Amino acid sequence: MIGIFDSGLGGLTVVRALMERLPGYDMIYFGDTARTPYGTKSRETVIRYSIENTDFLLENGASVIVMACNTASSVATETILNRYSVPVFEVITPAVAQALQVSTGLNLGVIGTRATISSGIYEKKLKIKNKKARVFSSPCPLLVPLVEEGWMNKPETRMIVKKYLHPLKTRQIDTLILGCTHYPLLKKIIQEKAGKRVKIIDSSLAVAGSIKNYVENNPEVNDLLAKKGETRFFVSDITEQFSKTANAILNKNIVLELVKK
Ligand code: DGL
Repeated sequence: MIGIFDSGLGGLTVVRALMERLPGYDMIYFGDTARTPYGTKSRETVIRYSIENTDFLLENGASVIVMACNTASSVATETILNRYSVPVFEVITPAVAQALQVSTGLNLGVIGTRATISSGIYEKKLKIKNKKARVFSSPCPLLVPLVEEGWMNKPETRMIVKKYLHPLKTRQIDTLILGCTHYPLLKKIIQEKAGKRVKIIDSSLAVAGSIKNYVENNPEVNDLLAKKGETRFFVSDITEQFSKTANAILNKNIVLELVKK
């Protein structure tokens, strides 16, 4: 099974992308809804939670791990890679590779949670890959709660997106990385406010593409992955709003199963 974890339900955008890219592969998802958000927490706490989440997925049959959460990917990747022997995917590297591939002027923008932006990870990775890259980042802390409230199409959300993107627009970015699980759900507004010519990199699609590539090139891993088209969705807390958000992201009704922690 492909095991995916996130701080909450935003990581379902990665599940959605995986369902498109690798249809029929069994998945197990864990959303840490009781402890969300991670984007405002310390590095140590996010690392501890990431270890617990990975343990849960492995204990329940995962043979590869996907850290769908940008915040966890930003601060916990090294720990998770060193601690476990299974293949581990994070969302930063594939988004960086795609951004550099499509960028015309190497003027790149990154948006994410405060924790992701202050980790500086996107900037660091972009510059390691291409030292000519100019990277402008902006934390967008209000976007996650707006998506979770289902305010994807409200005028207030458009206004806030516009305000957050303003400093990046003045830098004339040509490519913008959506460095947070929730932002693909605002892709239309973000595209509109960033400007038509700006290329938008969706980290959920980027990671799904790189997992597909990996699986196709590593038959020994592919053989370990069941393909009955079954996906289970575990969360650490359930409320009516969580169920609504999950169904809205996946565009279908799913059953959330509670894990007592
Ligand atoms: N999943 C987080 C991320 O991608 C967003 C929500 C949170 O702050 O926990 O950064």
